[in-house]
Order: sequence, then structure tokens, then C-alpha cells
Amino acid sequence: MKKINFTLQANPQLSQFDTLVLPVFSEGKSTPAAAHFALNGLIESLFKQGDFLAKPGQTLMLHFVAQLDCPRLLLVGFGEAEKLSEKSYISSLQAMAKNLDNSGAQAILNTTHHVTPKDRQADWSLYQNALQLQRSFYDYAHASRGEHTPKTPKIEQVCFMAEPLANHQQALQQAQATALGMALTQDLGNLPSNVCTPAYLADSAQQLAQSGGFEFNALDREQMLAMGMGSFMAVAQGSETPPKLICLAYRGGKADQAPIALVGKGVTFDTGGISLKPGASMDEMKYDMCGAATVLGVFQALAELKPAINVVGVIPATENMPSGKALKPGDVITSLSGQTIEVLNTDAEGRLILCDALTYVQQTYQPALVIDIATLTGACIIALGNHVSGLLGNDQTLIDALINAGKTTYDRFWPLPLGEEWDEQLKSNFADMANIGGREGGTITAAQFLARFTKQVKWAHLDIAGTAWQSGQNKGATGRPVPALVEFIMQQAAHD
Ligand code: BES
Ligand code: MN
Ligand code: ZN
Repeated sequence: MKKINFTLQANPQLSQFDTLVLPVFSEGKSTPAAAHFALNGLIESLFKQGDFLAKPGQTLMLHFVAQLDCPRLLLVGFGEAEKLSEKSYISSLQAMAKNLDNSGAQAILNTTHHVTPKDRQADWSLYQNALQLQRSFYDYAHASRGEHTPKTPKIEQVCFMAEPLANHQQALQQAQATALGMALTQDLGNLPSNVCTPAYLADSAQQLAQSGGFEFNALDREQMLAMGMGSFMAVAQGSETPPKLICLAYRGGKADQAPIALVGKGVTFDTGGISLKPGASMDEMKYDMCGAATVLGVFQALAELKPAINVVGVIPATENMPSGKALKPGDVITSLSGQTIEVLNTDAEGRLILCDALTYVQQTYQPALVIDIATLTGACIIALGNHVSGLLGNDQTLIDALINAGKTTYDRFWPLPLGEEWDEQLKSNFADMANIGGREGGTITAAQFLARFTKQVKWAHLDIAGTAWQSGQNKGATGRPVPALVEFIMQQAAHD
């Protein structure tokens, strides 16, 4: 994806730009930027005419405004100043970015970061601006899309009119890196499962490793069987498509510093296996590798940002298929940890592949903390909807840090409890545990299952079933939760 050149200037010359972007409130209240460019009269007239009322998300592109030293003026509505929420601010920025992306604008002078929601500062607005602008370039343009002509974004340069801030460079860089990471996550999520196989994910990771300077390694079926990954391999045994365990390591910190570990669910298609899913919307189960895609998206951002910290990524990747060789309800399997599992439902496959990856990552990398990211339960969508990811874990400091990173980036995580009561739902008469715990608290019992494999390490689990993609008209992968995880890592890097 082409990168926008983001800059900051205190006293920019308008004639050097082809587009000026101005925030407008619906009360018609003058903003410093409108006053600076003597545009209050124009805005007042527009309000009187009723053509532009600065409703949230409303935009108006004007051309060749008299006395304005620049051919385009984009007005962006932010609604009532008092009611400006983070959500409405971001929605307005998205409308702005879409309008600019569809225009001929190349060199933009932007002042919309002068507006900030309650309790937010200019650096937050700068970050959101850069993120939404860079994200507007995203286009799913894989060859398998057929006749679709890939878009050629025109924006080259966006200058924010502002005095330098202590951290503006970091805010802009992180936003841009995040947008690039999200684009990779979205591409991988949107690809159909006949293209985006475990081997395809491994190739993508290897390419990323080459360009970003990461260590890369991928284990195949024979190696994993020999290692004793009985749980992951039980899911993979029903598929003709070879599974992979993909490992990436970014070493930006001290050699002896324990890494942050990210583990992403990479089910490239989830049919449910022998516990077959119903047909309606089954196509959406191509998104069941969005945890894996999130890990790769975060690594893409790391390649840009190069923070002083160590991060490893581990991705168990497989299809979940019914076949003559497939895992069956009632089968008992032995995980890499040695614990045995009675498989009561083959559609609860995510936890079966993650448990072995979680054991592997602890054995191989001795991480300081582990975060797994998975489209794990439909129950999470019922509980929380599509707006926040479910967050569970065994370490309150880690949970708080993740919640905080989610709030900062508006890529939010919502906590759910863990406890012995839910753990008891996993009781099995025939093995150490069952792989399902009944309908009640489905997101919690899934996490409770994973908790049995992460007792010796600080661990958090993100259930992104509701947030990783959207259905409906704008169907597609969202790139979440790349923004929050990048922020989390940057904060950890700053603290060590
Ligand atoms: N990949 C699904 C979870 C899912 C379902 C994500 C719908 C997004 C939308 C997962 O593998 C699954 O099938 N989970 C089961 C668990 C159940 C069998 C205990 C579910 O949620 O129904
Ligand atoms: Mn499933
Ligand atoms: Zn699944």
C-alpha cells in the first residue's frame, strides 16, 4: 500500500496545497481554523442556505472558493461540539477520508485535529486522522477478485496545521504502521479458503520475515505429530490440506529479554468437522483465521515501527473438515501438555489447536506474557455484539494494560470473568477435560479450557469472533484488533 507523507507545520502556506480541510460544528460556532482562513462568512452563508449543517459525518467539497488560495475546500461536519464523542469523531474522519480519497486531492492541509472529543488531546486526534486517511487506501485487489481494477490512491501528502507536539511523530508513525498492518490482516481475512490455506499463511509470514528481518520457521504435519501435538493434529487429520505451525520472532529488545508472545487461531476454514455447521453463512468461516491474520498484521506494523522489545508470533493453521479420517465426537486425544481431552464437539476446534500452540510457545520461547487472539465463540457475539472484543486472562495487570490500549485506539476490549465454577463445566468422565462446557457462558468456558494450558505464564485471551469481520453490505475483515495490540506493544516497549 502506498504511504501518505504525513507532516506537521505551524505556519503552512496554503498555496502549497490543493485542498484545505476544515472541521465545522453544527452550531455554526467559529473554529480557530475557520477564522484563520477567513471562512466564517462562507460557513454562515452555507448554514443559512441549508446546504451544509455540519451534521456528524456530513461533508461538503467546495471548489475555487473566492479569495481562498487553494482550489479545494472540504468542510467536515462534527455535529454539536458538546456531543462530540470518540465514535462520532472517528465516523466524521472516515467520511472525510472517503471524500478526499474519491477526490483529486494530492496535497492536503488538514485542520480537523484541532477538534478533540472530551478528555482527548491533539495527539489522539492526529493518530486517528492519520489512521483513517491511510486506511482509506485499502482495496481488496487480489487476482481472484477478477475484473476489479485495483485503485490508485491520489493523496500524496497530508500536512497537519499545528505547533509541534512532544509525541506527534510517534502518533503519526504508529497510525500509519497500524493502517498497513490492518491492510494485511484484512487481505488475509478476505481471501477465500481455497487461496488462503495454511501454506499460504506460512508463505505470507515468510515474506514478512524477509522484508521485516524476522526469524521464521514453519512446522509440518510430520514434525508436529512427532512432537506430540495430538490435539492440534487431531483437528488437522480430517483435512487433505497440510497444516502448519507458523513461528515468527522479532528481536528489537535485549537478547536476554523474555518476549511478548502472540498466538493466533488460524483455521483457514471451519466447517465444524463431523459436528458439521449449518449451511447458512458457512462461507463466513473463511474468516476463522483472523486471529492468525491479526498476528501477521501486528508483525507488519513491527517491521515499520521497530520498537525496542522482543515479540514472537505463533500460528497454528489448519482447516477443520469432515472426512473419513476426521476427528469424531467422543474421541479422546492427548495434547502436547500431556493432558487428555474428550472431544464432545468437533466444532469447538479453535481451543484444540490453540492449546498445543500455547504449550509450544511456552516451551520454545519462555515468554514474559502470552496473548492469544481467536475467533473462538459465537457466544461472544451474543454476549458483546460486534463492537468490543471479549477479554479474559489470569493476570489483572496484563488485562488492565490491554483494556487501556483498546480504549486509546478505540479498538476496545471488554472483560469477562474466569473462575472455578465455569471450569467445572469442562468435567469429563473419560479424560482430563471435555472440549465444551455447555451453552451457558460459552465464551468463558472456552477461555477456561485455554487457561488449563497457561497456568505457568501471564496470559490473556481475546475472543474476536464479533470484531474481526463484519457481515452485511460492507462484508469483510475489519483489521481489528491490530490497532490495540500495536498500542499495547508500543506501551510495553516504552516501559521496559
Ligand atoms: N469459529 C467458531 C466460532 C464462531 C462462530 C465465530 C460464529 C464467528 C461466528 C468456532 O470454532 C466454533 O464453532 N465455536 C462453537 C463452539 C461450540 C461448539 C461450543 C460455537 O461458538 O458455536
Ligand atoms: Mn468451530
Ligand atoms: Zn472455528
